[in-house]
Amino acid sequence: MVFRFDFGMVKVTLTVTAALSPDLSPAGESHGDSGTRKSHAGREEQSEPLPGFHVKAINHTKDVAMKILQINSSARAENSHSTRLATTLVERLRAAQPQATLTVRDLGRTPHPMLDEAALQALFSPAEQRTPEQAARVAQDDALIAEIQAADVLVLGVPMYNFGVPAQLKNWIDAISRAQVTFRYTANGPEGLLTGKKVYIALTRGGLYRNTPNDSQTPYLKTFFGFLGMTDVQFVYAEGLAMGPEAEQDALASALSQIEQALLA
Ligand SMILES: Cc1cc2nc3c(=O)[nH]c(=O)nc-3n(C[C@H](O)[C@H](O)[C@H](O)COP(=O)(O)O)c2cc1C
Repeated sequence: MVFRFDFGMVKVTLTVTAALSPDLSPAGESHGDSGTRKSHAGREEQSEPLPGFHVKAINHTKDVAMKILQINSSARAENSHSTRLATTLVERLRAAQPQATLTVRDLGRTPHPMLDEAALQALFSPAEQRTPEQAARVAQDDALIAEIQAADVLVLGVPMYNFGVPAQLKNWIDAISRAQVTFRYTANGPEGLLTGKKVYIALTRGGLYRNTPNDSQTPYLKTFFGFLGMTDVQFVYAEGLAMGPEAEQDALASALSQIEQALLA
């Protein structure tokens, strides 16, 4: 008998042979023929025989190593605080899980096209009727959707630009919001289809906005990711970066300590 349990990032396959197998002792008796299981580190470990069942194998399917998707959205290719903080988050995650894989999508270096009329026409045309140009435009969005579908953990670096998120990030948000693919509407309202993912967002600002009505980013991003089914969102803030060197250093030190807290949560 094979049981499969899906705990999101960890999938467990449990192979159980009923005690009536000729090579097994009757239920409740120790028969010394322990099953084996793979530990989280992938090592083979002996398991205790279970009364009535013989556990042949417990396979923590570590071919499902954590997949991290890092999204950078600063227009700055170098010296971006938000990218640095996102990278630090990723490094800390990978230190804890060295087998984790990483995909980096840098929206500053490789900007995604905006959602203009041509893009809308391409998206709302049936696939078989799209021109080659329209198919290519839809494929660009498809690639971003595939990245996020594959990811277990998202790590975003997000500067504040003029009280909002960078246009580069907004283009990514528009690209991955696809009805019937990443969300759908039911009789009960909207349902996000990107569930079981953890999201970390490093926010950087020149001024101070956290927990004030002028922080448009936090509620917006929380609402957006929740809409797509990602409700486990942790924010890290580096604020006051334009308020002098001392304030900048304090802000970055605070952000690093928030990262440690976020990883524990
Ligand atoms: C075009 C632009 C607009 C900005 N608008 C704001 C703003 O509205 N509020 C704010 O606190 N900081 C603002 N800043 C400061 C940035 O949020 C801050 O420098 C941040 O560190 C930039 O992120 P980065 O270091 O990842 O590039 C702005 C910076 C730029 C370049």
